[in-house]
Amino acid sequence: MKKILIAIDGPAGSGKSTTARLVARRLGYVYVDTGAMYRAMTYKVLTSGASPADEAAVVKLSRDTRISLVDGGELKVMLDGQDVTEAIRSEEVTKSVSLVSSYNEVRVLMVEKQRQIGAAGGCVVDGRDIGTVVFPHADLKFYMVADIAERARRRQVELSGTGVDLPVEQVVQELKERDFKDSTRETSPLKKADDAIEIDTTNLTIDEQVEIILSYAREVAVGHEEMQRK
Ligand code: DC
Repeated sequence: MKKILIAIDGPAGSGKSTTARLVARRLGYVYVDTGAMYRAMTYKVLTSGASPADEAAVVKLSRDTRISLVDGGELKVMLDGQDVTEAIRSEEVTKSVSLVSSYNEVRVLMVEKQRQIGAAGGCVVDGRDIGTVVFPHADLKFYMVADIAERARRRQVELSGTGVDLPVEQVVQELKERDFKDSTRETSPLKKADDAIEIDTTNLTIDEQVEIILSYAREVAVGHEEMQRK
């Protein structure tokens, strides 16, 4: 079947990453976690001692940074040759990533890289601007949403898995701040593409989310095949 490109956007905790990763596995596609790229850049800024608020310094650093995603079963995130897969999930990175990712020049560099990876098709790409900016001609676009209480619950579980226990009110507050920054920034804000299919995951299991996307993906891939045969 033709290898297609699937874009999945949505706010933090909407279920994008888990779903995208599993859909990619099931289709034998590459999973591209674009949030991880912005997180890796943010980690570099923090560990180099620069202030995330210093746009010129962040941009300068980003020009001299190599970020790659190695998808071999589990996705590994490499920063200048170092494995930062776990380090980029810290609270410090999460708090600064919206600011670092709001800088236009940082985005230009990341988007260029994302387009290179996606050029061959056979990818599931998740992020905030994938269907709107990075791949406006993606074969399939989804926009995932969920209630804030459910998103906070998921994030709390994820954090506690890394040994961080935060009160749910704090998690809600942090999610709201990140939503606000990600959706109101000037460059490529988080928003639903006009032709994206919206999936509310509040009451769905991960399996259900995966199945919904797979059924659309099969339909589109089969459609492409038939068109080619005609
Ligand atoms: O998906 P995530 O929560 O790991 O993403 C971390 C941050 O990166 C998110 O708050 C905003 C930014 N991001 C972005 O600006 N554009 C993307 N395509 C993906 C993530």
